[in-house]
Amino acid sequence: MQTDIAALLSNTAPILPVIKVEKAEHILPIANALAEGGIKGLEITLRTTAGIKAIELVKKAGLDVVLSAGTVTRPEHVDALADIGVDFAVTPGLTPDVLERAQRKGVQLLPGIATPSEVMTGLAYDLRFFKLFPASIVGGIGMLKALGGPFPDLKFCPTGGLNLENFRDYLSLPNVFCIGGSWMMAFQGGEPDTSEITRLAAEATGLLG
Ligand code: 3PG
Repeated sequence: MQTDIAALLSNTAPILPVIKVEKAEHILPIANALAEGGIKGLEITLRTTAGIKAIELVKKAGLDVVLSAGTVTRPEHVDALADIGVDFAVTPGLTPDVLERAQRKGVQLLPGIATPSEVMTGLAYDLRFFKLFPASIVGGIGMLKALGGPFPDLKFCPTGGLNLENFRDYLSLPNVFCIGGSWMMAFQGGEPDTSEITRLAAEATGLLG
């Protein structure tokens, strides 16, 4: 049974930063900078080999954050995350091999969908929370409104192409429980620019009602 992912995020801003670290040790300064700007949800992607190690570092540090892994594309990723213990794992798409491994290992999944057929596959696995990806390419606001017709009880986290200018339009939709984006990730000379990350995070959370 999929947990209520919206409830997991209820004590933080409904903004999930999509984080790609080249060095695992960058993650704690990034997480602290985001928290200072009011964002305590993290999606640490497995796009780099540093991703898993970064997730482990956050876990070990015992930060007061909602810890998710992103870009989970293979069953072996799920195995690694089950060992570490994350709040949930985000996938760019929905595949039975990853879903079934996650169910078997007790890892909560927020799977990506881009079509009604993928939503229907998710329904067969009792899923109610999905990521819409890549949101701006597959129809954005119009797509989410359209999905609300046949699937009124489902909730989405649109990600891909969101930014400071448009994220509130997405969050105002009744079937959107959070949004994801990478726009507040700032690096300079290969190092995280923590004051800029805090500024960008605070700029976003400051716009929330
Ligand atoms: C991703 O998985 O790449 C996220 O959707 C981030 O997209 P963005 O870089 O367009 O915010």
